[in-house]
Amino acid sequence: MSDDLENLLHEERSFPPSPEFAAQANASAGLFEEAVDREAFWTAQARDLLTWDTAFTQVLDFSDAPFAPWFADGTLNAAYNALDRHVDNGLGERVAIHFEAEDGTGETWTYARLRDEVARTANALTGLGVGLGDRVAVYMPMIPQAVVAMLACARIGAPHSVVFGGFSAEALHSRILDASARMVITTDGQFRRGTTMPLKGAVDEAIAHGDTPIEHVLVYRRTGGEVAWDESRDVWWHDVVPRQSTEHTPVPVPAEHPLFILYTSGTTGKPKGILHTTGGYLTQTAYTHRNVFDLKPETDVYWCTADVGWITGHSYVAYAPLVNGATQVIYEGTPDTPHRGRWWEIVQKYGVTILYTAPTAIRACMKWGEELPNGFDLSSLRLLGSVGEPINPEAWMWYRRVIGHDRCPIVDTWWQTETGAIMISPLPGVTATKPGSAQRALPGIGMDVVNDLGEPVPNGGGGYLVLTEPWPAMLRGIWGDQERYRETYWSRFPGMYFAGDGAKKDDDGDIWLLGRVDDVMNISGHRLSTTEIESALVSHPYVAEAAVVGAADDTTGQAVVAFVILRGEFTELADEVGEGRDVVAQLRAHVAHEIGPIAKPRDILIVNELPKTRSGKIMRRLLKDVADHRTVGDVTTLADSSVMSLIQRGLAGK
Ligand code: WT7
Repeated sequence: MSDDLENLLHEERSFPPSPEFAAQANASAGLFEEAVDREAFWTAQARDLLTWDTAFTQVLDFSDAPFAPWFADGTLNAAYNALDRHVDNGLGERVAIHFEAEDGTGETWTYARLRDEVARTANALTGLGVGLGDRVAVYMPMIPQAVVAMLACARIGAPHSVVFGGFSAEALHSRILDASARMVITTDGQFRRGTTMPLKGAVDEAIAHGDTPIEHVLVYRRTGGEVAWDESRDVWWHDVVPRQSTEHTPVPVPAEHPLFILYTSGTTGKPKGILHTTGGYLTQTAYTHRNVFDLKPETDVYWCTADVGWITGHSYVAYAPLVNGATQVIYEGTPDTPHRGRWWEIVQKYGVTILYTAPTAIRACMKWGEELPNGFDLSSLRLLGSVGEPINPEAWMWYRRVIGHDRCPIVDTWWQTETGAIMISPLPGVTATKPGSAQRALPGIGMDVVNDLGEPVPNGGGGYLVLTEPWPAMLRGIWGDQERYRETYWSRFPGMYFAGDGAKKDDDGDIWLLGRVDDVMNISGHRLSTTEIESALVSHPYVAEAAVVGAADDTTGQAVVAFVILRGEFTELADEVGEGRDVVAQLRAHVAHEIGPIAKPRDILIVNELPKTRSGKIMRRLLKDVADHRTVGDVTTLADSSVMSLIQRGLAGK
C-alpha cells in the first residue's frame, strides 16, 4: 500500500467541489480563519452544538500537560444532548434510527421512542445497582439496543466499555478486569451470515474466571437461542426494562466526567483502555459530523457502516449523529448476506444520502464487480466518506465513479481511537480533493509532519504525523496507567502527540498517510498489535517463539502473517519446515480463542529460526519482506545472517 501511495504522490487529478454542492455546504473556507484563535473557535462550537446544564467559563487548561481538560467547570449530560432536547424541541417523531436486521426486516426508532427506551434502561441499571462512575461492559451485536445500552450508561454517568462482539471470552475477560466493570450488558446471541451465533456463553466464560467484580449480566433476547442461566446474577432485559418508568432525569456531569473507555491495541501485548470524557468529546464529534459530512439533519439519511465495538461506531453512530438530530441507518449484518448487493439495496431502500465506510469494504465491492451496485438506485447519495486506513487511489476513483456517480464529494477522514473525532479531512464544498490524500487538518486542529528530530518537514518531505495542539476530543489518558499515556504518545517528540503514523506532505502541503510506523497492524481498518498476537501464539503449548508481521493484502489492506518456531518435542508435528497443516489449524484456532477471529493469522509459517539482531530483537522488517514476496532487505545487522536464506528456502520448498 505505501509503495503504491509513494508512486502516486505526484497525483495530478484533482476534483474541485461542484458549484451546486459548494453553494449549499455547511463548511466554508472562512472556517480556517475563524479557527486561528483555537480556544475561541472551540468555545463557539461547544456553545452552539451542545446544551449545557451549567455553562462553562474555562476553556482549555494545558498547565498539567499532557493532560488537557476542556470546558472543565461546565456540566452536561450526553444522553440529554443526544435525545431529550430534540424531543423537547418538537422533534420526537423524527426518525433517529432505521434499523435493518440481517433478515431484511426493519424497525423504525423515532427520537421519542429511543429517548423512552434509554430512560427505562437507565432506571433498570440504577435498580441493578449501577451508579455514577461505575463501569459497565457492553458486549452486543449491531442492534439499536447496543446504542440504547451506551446512552443509558451515559444518562446515569456510568462510563461504558464496549467490547466488540467479535472478540473472544478471553479478550472480554481482560477488558472487564482492567476496567473493573460491575455489569455486562449482552445478548443471548447474534445473527451472522444467515445463522445464529451465541454471545452470552462468552460472557459466562469470561466471568467463570472468578476474579471479576461483575454483579449482574443484563441479557437482551435477540435470537431466542439456548443460554445457561445463573439466577443470582443474570437478568433478562425483557423482565426489567419494559416495566420501568420513562420518567428519568439525566444526571448532569462535569465536562471532564468519563464517558467511556474503549480498548485498542498498542505496541505491547496488553490493549490500552483509551479514556474519553464528555464535553470536549461531544463538541468535536458533533462539529466534525456536521461539517465533514455536510449534515442537514432535516433531510439527510446518514449511514456509517462501523460497528459500535470500534471508535467509529462510538463517535459517528452512537453519539454525533444523535447529538446533531440526524436520521441514520443501523445495519446488523454483513455486506454479502444474503447477497453481495446488500449494502446498495439498503442505500436504495432508505434513500441514504451520506455513506461512511472503510477502504477494505470498497475494495471488496470492487472485486465483486460494478454490476452489483449498478443494479440499485444510488441517486440519493450526495457525500461519501472513508476511514480506517489509507485509501488507495484506485479504490478512491472507483468509489467516486461507481458509487458516487462522479457527483459526490469524497471525504477521506484520518483519526484514531485516541483522537476521538476526525482530525484530517477535506472539507466538502471547500477542498478540491485528490484521490488518496486526507489532505488538511480541520479548522481548530494543530498537525504537522516531522523528521526524526521532531522538526517539521518541508512540502515534498516525509516523516511522522504529530498533533501539535491539544484538541477537544483528545483522549484523557489510558485507564489505570497514566504513565503509559505519557510514554506512548508524548515522549517521542517532546510537547507533541505522536500518532504512530508515517505521512508525507506533497508539493501543495497536502497530507498523504503512509500507514503505521510501529508494531501495530491495520487489518480491514481494525487495529491489531503484532506483539499481542505473538503473545497469544506463545501461550500455546506447541510454540517456542513467534513473530508476527502485517503483510500487504489486496482486500484487507494488511493481513496477519505469523512465523512460528515449535518447541523441541513438537517439531515432528510439522514434518517439514513450512508444513504441518494440523498444527497451523490449531494455532489459528488458538489465536481466535485468545483474541477473536479477526486476529487469526492468514498464514502461519513454521520455521526453525527467526532473524534477530545481536541484541536479540526480532527483525520484523525482514520477515515482512518475505511475507510480501519482496527481496529481503539488508541483513548485515543479523546475529546470524544465514537465517533469512534458511527461512526463504524453507518457504520455497513449501
Ligand atoms: C489508525 C487508527 C479512526 C477510526 C478507525 C480506526 C489508520 C485511520 C485513516 C485514514 C490513513 C488511517 C491510522 C491510524 N487510519 N483512518 N483516513 N487514512 N490511515 O481507528 O483503530 O484507532 O486506528 O488507523 O494508521 O493511526 P483505530
